[in-house]
Amino acid sequence: MIKEINRLKKELNAIILAHNYQPPEVQDIADFVGDSLDLAKKGARTEASIIVFCGVRFMAESAKILAPEKTVLLPVQDAGCAMADMVDEDKLKDLKQKNPDAKVVCYVNTTARTKALCDYCCTSANALAVVQSIPEKKIIFVPDRNLGHWVKTQTDKEIILYPGYCYVHKKIKRDTVSKIKSAYPDAEVLIHPEADPETLELADYVLSTNGMVNQVKKSRARRFIIGTESGLIHRLKKENPGKEFFSAGDALVCVNMKKTRLFDILHALENMEYKIEIEPAIMNQAKRALQKMVEIQRGA
Ligand code: 13P
Ligand code: SF4
Repeated sequence: MIKEINRLKKELNAIILAHNYQPPEVQDIADFVGDSLDLAKKGARTEASIIVFCGVRFMAESAKILAPEKTVLLPVQDAGCAMADMVDEDKLKDLKQKNPDAKVVCYVNTTARTKALCDYCCTSANALAVVQSIPEKKIIFVPDRNLGHWVKTQTDKEIILYPGYCYVHKKIKRDTVSKIKSAYPDAEVLIHPEADPETLELADYVLSTNGMVNQVKKSRARRFIIGTESGLIHRLKKENPGKEFFSAGDALVCVNMKKTRLFDILHALENMEYKIEIEPAIMNQAKRALQKMVEIQRGA
């Protein structure tokens, strides 16, 4: 299967992008593995005409919005993000109406339809920088209340939180992190900002998944407690053979991130499925929010 995938990739001028949570065999065959921000940038810059996006739908949609001339394929049609699906359009419209002086910042973990209702987009890697760059004082932050809360603790902006969350990061408990830390006091604690605030208090660093990759690389520590979806540990082990990693919880697994298999990638390339298509009006609106994030990032 790997041979055939590689042959088709060349023949079709395709590139395989994979998120850090993807199963090991998918990460290993990908041309590029990264976090949401990295993958969005990579997708926009690639010379390839087809992007096979191994991740969840909102990530593939972002790639399509930033590179509309390319064919973007999501190998598993129903690979969604539970947090992105928590946004109720009417509720968001209502919040906007009640706060006409607020700007709306949406986490990249949102559907294209939600992005179209927002002013700025951000990822876990640049949420604080995006919020700080906005001249207005009042911000509606959607949908992750934990990421929004974490940003709120570091800025004097008035932030209205939407009640969304990630069920995987919610499973990271303060007690579990404490227990591992008392068994391995020398271990550095890295936690994703989607975790609950009381858990984040125990982190040495609060980072996006690529932030964790970079921190592990440059740290002098030999042991790390990893507070995010367990798929990242495959990449961390592969890139840091001398270091040891402990997952900050049992079964920190995002079901949708694990749906993609080699077979699905092969099927995607053979059949050009499943193409990401977005209504032009939604696409244009959503692009504004994503583009603003890219510009802020460039200026940072
Ligand atoms: P990153 O952008 O940090 O990779 O996170 C994406 C995600 O879905 C976290 O649950
Ligand atoms: Fe969505 Fe959570 Fe899965 Fe990330 S880990 S894709 S936020 S459900």
